[in-house]
Amino acid sequence: MSELIGACVFAQSGGPTAVINASAYGVITAALAATEITHVYGAANGIAGLLKGKLYDLGQEDAQELEYLLNTPSSELGSCRYKMKSHVEDETDYITILELFKRLNVRYFFYNGGNDSMDTCDKVSRYFEQVGYECRVMGIPKTIDNDLCGTDHSPGFGSAAKYIATSIAEICKDTHVYDAGTVTVVEMMGRHAGWLAGSSALASFSCASPDLIYLPEVTFDMQEFIEDVTEVYNRKKKCLIAVSEGISYADGSFVSEATVSATDGFGHVQLGGLAVTLAGIIHQRTGAKVRGIELSLLQRCGAHLASQTDIDEARRAGSFAVEQAVAGVSGKMVAFKCKRDGGYECELILQPLSVCANNEQKVPREWINERGNYITDEFVDYVLPLIQGENTRATVNGLPRFAQLKKVPVL
Ligand code: F6P
Repeated sequence: MSELIGACVFAQSGGPTAVINASAYGVITAALAATEITHVYGAANGIAGLLKGKLYDLGQEDAQELEYLLNTPSSELGSCRYKMKSHVEDETDYITILELFKRLNVRYFFYNGGNDSMDTCDKVSRYFEQVGYECRVMGIPKTIDNDLCGTDHSPGFGSAAKYIATSIAEICKDTHVYDAGTVTVVEMMGRHAGWLAGSSALASFSCASPDLIYLPEVTFDMQEFIEDVTEVYNRKKKCLIAVSEGISYADGSFVSEATVSATDGFGHVQLGGLAVTLAGIIHQRTGAKVRGIELSLLQRCGAHLASQTDIDEARRAGSFAVEQAVAGVSGKMVAFKCKRDGGYECELILQPLSVCANNEQKVPREWINERGNYITDEFVDYVLPLIQGENTRATVNGLPRFAQLKKVPVL
């Protein structure tokens, strides 16, 4: 493969995570070290910022500030949810990117995101190929939802799972203080995949697990839900329920859809408000004291509970993307191939972007019990290695010390 000399652009896309900036650190440090890469640029707000020509010169950042990225949650360069049309339908965006890349001699493009972002990455990669512009395009996985195909798991999930399991264990402790009966419903993100809600079961390692778990992979039946909760409540006078925001009825409509109605650039309905709704229904039926808790953004950027395994893997994924691109690879997403028997090992591999774009990896039905109200041991065995390791982060005045980048604009 021929040597390709030029600048690189790195961009972050989709919902943030506790470790997406660890991937940024991996990309930036590997790119700064690569002799083939002349400049390291970061796009503000993903592809949306790129289209406006909003780039930062990451070569001007202090090494120490960059290192703080390893423990800084959220997308430090800013993110977007922008759906690019196919270039056949509308070539405008592609021409804008091509002109910018030609002007700055950008020959490497690294896009860090979930399945919608891999769609963008795939489209840009194919366009460059079609017009004969040599630019190596690589996808770097990221999503707390863990729904990216072609990879064992995605960076961001392990930390969110650790946050959820810990929070559920703590909530469980709280719900047991009074003599009075209580029903508590806790809602997790995850859209169409139940990986996050299912991770609540890992709270069992702290001897404080939920009683019931509902995932989007199983059609939700309100009557069965009420029966399940009533049975547990009558027996224990306590019931702790973990529920995914994406549970839906047999007709496909989200149970939570009625409560929140905004949509993003990909036409996804914003979900939420489900825990309070379900808690209200249970109160009407049982008269119990109820609480609906939506973990919402807290589960996405809970860096104080980030898994060190997740941070390390996110960083490795970023550096690997750069190393592979410099070696000649393009049109691929970095993915994980893991082994759990006889000790956890995670190998980095490459997958075609088309395999990862748009598709969703769901929780296998056999990892959910028959009644559809709990997960199995296989699920727990899968997630457990991903939440291991405590991060050692810098603090200032007892609070996290996050990265403060200069973000010098590229003119
Ligand atoms: O990034 C994935 C995700 O966190 C989903 O779990 C959730 O439904 C969605 O993002 C929320 O998106 P937004 O932050 O755009 O409201």
